[in-house]
Amino acid sequence: MNNNKNWIDQRFPLTKVWNEHLAEYYTPRNFNFWYFFGSLAILVLVMQIVTGIFLTMHFKADEANAFASVEYIMRDVDWGWLIRYMHSTGASAFFIVIYLHMYRALLYGSYKTPRELIWIIGMVLYIVLMAEAFMGYVLPWGQMSYWGAQVIISLFGSVPFIGPDLLIWILGDYVVGDPALNRFFSLHVIALPLILVILVFLHIVALHTVGSNNPDGIEIKKNKDKKGIPKDGIPFHPYYSVKDIVGVVVFLMIFSAVVFFSPTLNGYFLENANFVEANPLKTPDHIAPLWYLTPFYSVLRAIPPMFGSQFPGVMGMFSSLLILLALPWLDRSKVKSIRYRSYPYKIALGIFVVSFIYLGYLGMQPVTPTNVFLARVFTVAYFGFFILMPWFTSIGKTKTEPKRITG
Ligand code: HEM
Repeated sequence: MNNNKNWIDQRFPLTKVWNEHLAEYYTPRNFNFWYFFGSLAILVLVMQIVTGIFLTMHFKADEANAFASVEYIMRDVDWGWLIRYMHSTGASAFFIVIYLHMYRALLYGSYKTPRELIWIIGMVLYIVLMAEAFMGYVLPWGQMSYWGAQVIISLFGSVPFIGPDLLIWILGDYVVGDPALNRFFSLHVIALPLILVILVFLHIVALHTVGSNNPDGIEIKKNKDKKGIPKDGIPFHPYYSVKDIVGVVVFLMIFSAVVFFSPTLNGYFLENANFVEANPLKTPDHIAPLWYLTPFYSVLRAIPPMFGSQFPGVMGMFSSLLILLALPWLDRSKVKSIRYRSYPYKIALGIFVVSFIYLGYLGMQPVTPTNVFLARVFTVAYFGFFILMPWFTSIGKTKTEPKRITG
């Protein structure tokens, strides 16, 4: 055994990498529930890739056969229904995990110095993930695939001057059809997953360069023993590799319950209209993307057209996403963790979370005057969180951070 290890170590830094990133990688000893979601995101990514490979074996990326090939997977392919429902539930699970993972960063100020780049790479991951999910949803060529694509892609047509040409360039045609389906398939199965995997690698490299933050928001590297080991650090392996298994087991229990008992989750994970084949002559009653995209969709609908153009709404929607990138520079607070933050920050974070969730809810509802009004109020609150952040993070009384990690 040792001989084999030596043989490899002389040719490849196996033991070195194992020690640097696992057995001798010192992690704060106070990780809680919120620290499960990074490893769970990796698990879901792997699950999506594996189930995706099997779906691709039977799926036909062709306007005439796509819908039928998915029905074939559901009815005739051995375990096809399981693979498909794992993949569709996996998409929503991915976003649940990612939203909790991002919220953790807000709770403990994990995006603040020196972790800005972890946050930026995370944000790029999030945006690529949205594109990946959107394109995946188009593939089964159901009513919502088709009309969702129609609505979202037509937004690019509102870009001044180049809009109409951009639209044809994206679609490869004048309408949503076979060329769009083919290129979305190609991007969904290889280009974007490849980018996701590379980004996750970079995310972890950036994390391991500066080390993890923790619920106290203090740097464990500032307190080292004589051997240079952080006094409040414990080796990632075996302590957190084992702890993460607890998260994995609980996650898989909930995930299996959804896959086996309610894979569509009442239209939240797979919309009813998507069990009907795409029909360009019949618009569904109301078109809404899946829940994880609706907060941004709501911002789009909240902003009124100007001179008959939807462009302001499109700008608003993209800004609501991109503004998250600026977070590390908007937050002026001296402390990182919510445990020691001032009241103004706690209140603002509360309003932000309520606004985001409510925007998400409104994005799934039909457009009525009341809903549009509410969407406008919450859009203002959403942007207010970022625009006013330099102010409310520099007022109010913060608690003194402890020198060493507490409990
Ligand atoms: C495929 C998507 C992603 C994967 C697989 C992933 C994976 C991970 C892992 C394994 C960790 C370390 C464990 C942990 O802290 O939970 C981590 C930390 C972190 N991630 Fe992600 N992540 C993803 C997306 C994101 C996104 C979208 C953001 C934010 C925009 C983000 C921001 C962060 C931050 C700030 C940390 C450091 C947290 C701390 O030390 O407190 N990640 N990520």
